[in-house]
Amino acid sequence: MPRILVVDDEPSILSVLSTILRAEGYEVVPENNGEKAQALIKEQDFDLLLCDIYMKPVGGMDILQFARHDSPSTSVIMLTAYGSVETAIKALKLGAFDYVTKPFKVDELLITVQRALAYRTALTENADLKAMLTTKYRMENIIAESPSMKNVCEMIRKVAPTDTTILIYGESGTGKELVAKAIHTQSPRKEKKFLAVNCAALPEPLLESEMFGHVKGAFTGAASDKQGLFEAVSGGTIFLDEIGSMPLSIQGKLLRVLQEKEVRRVGSNENIPVDARVLAATNTKLESLIQEGKFREDLYYRLSVIPIQIAPLRERQDDILPLIYHVIRAETPEGKDLPTLDPEASHVMEIYNWPGNVRELENAIKHALAFATDGRIKPGDLPAKVVESAKSAPSPATAGQNQPGSLDAERGKSLRAFLRQKEKEYLQQVLSLTRGNKEEAAKALKISLATLYRKLPDSEA
Ligand SMILES: Nc1ncnc2c1ncn2[C@@H]1O[C@H](COP(=O)(O)OP(=O)(O)OP(=O)(O)O)[C@@H](O)[C@H]1O
Ligand SMILES: [Mg+2]
Repeated sequence: MPRILVVDDEPSILSVLSTILRAEGYEVVPENNGEKAQALIKEQDFDLLLCDIYMKPVGGMDILQFARHDSPSTSVIMLTAYGSVETAIKALKLGAFDYVTKPFKVDELLITVQRALAYRTALTENADLKAMLTTKYRMENIIAESPSMKNVCEMIRKVAPTDTTILIYGESGTGKELVAKAIHTQSPRKEKKFLAVNCAALPEPLLESEMFGHVKGAFTGAASDKQGLFEAVSGGTIFLDEIGSMPLSIQGKLLRVLQEKEVRRVGSNENIPVDARVLAATNTKLESLIQEGKFREDLYYRLSVIPIQIAPLRERQDDILPLIYHVIRAETPEGKDLPTLDPEASHVMEIYNWPGNVRELENAIKHALAFATDGRIKPGDLPAKVVESAKSAPSPATAGQNQPGSLDAERGKSLRAFLRQKEKEYLQQVLSLTRGNKEEAAKALKISLATLYRKLPDSEA
């Protein structure tokens, strides 16, 4: 959900604008004081700034210049009184995306807002490496350019301050643990511990004692008393990874701990009060485990008060390039030049379907960095699997085409030209299926509207 900062010192206009934009589903932060607006721009990320020009003492032009300097990726629309076109033009020269004259027509305002947001997305996507790196991401460490990942960040922001149990769904490598950590670090428990346990990695007795502790002599090898995670985390967050693999007997005990907020160490009769927030993750649908009698339904309802679903990487194309740059930056020692990414290599990675999700992408980049000796990542530096399947597998660029033969027919063209051509053909097919409706097409292709526009030839965009 795009975030919009609306600045106007006229309370009635501020409230009308906020209402209209919220009704469209935008997240709106209203502000009537120019100085405070600048502080907000400094502290938070906004996709769009909608700002009145005439305000005192800090005027709209000052805020515009401040925003362009401090947060260049935020689009700016200025609000100006009817008849002051000269000032409006000055604003455009200073980097505003557009202006809207007051009194404004709602339709006109909304269209300008949509265009400014689409422009911003296109800009961020096309930005060169350096610009990419200066982009302030909405949540530290979590790359979220795709609508679905932005939605996940939004959820994190909402649920973090509460003490609710969260169940995180996602295929392997999609970032479940990352999301769990983000919830912890944005919660009031952030100064306390974050402890993780992988329920699939430990045999039943060990998992039980790991979670709840044991007393000396509780079982062979229990040479002394031991605290479990629920006690050790004291006020922090416990992350139960792969909860679908938790044995039924432990599920029952966990349910009790969640309800009573007390643990009993293995081999003891004493109840010890605990304070732990529980986050859980799974890559299998717990519903089907319930059907099979492998997961307790009551525990499921207790855990999944709020579910967060992380989409597989192949369904959020918009995240691929930003993730690549994120990894390149993380892997390059400070002070060394950042390697660049050849367009062919970036294209191959954009159409590969990433069965191992972000983890696989990370590994592919690390592999490429080890092979790229001249500071440039080329397709040949990527794992063979990625390049090969980009050439042959049904991907958005080749699906539905007359396959293997067409590859032969295209021999001699560069891989990039070939892929571009196939992608163009596929886009046309989808567009004709949606009778030219670009929004529907973008949805079907699981890319943003801005990405679709970027990929279309100028004549059709
Ligand atoms: N949106 C993202 N932005 C930045 N890094 C990400 C993102 N998603 C995942 N990663 C990185 O990808 C790697 C895998 O993420 P993580 O371990 O959280 O996934 P997981 O879903 O827990 O995987 P598994 O099911 O294999 O345990 C980590 O290094 C993580 O930092
Ligand atoms: Mg994990």
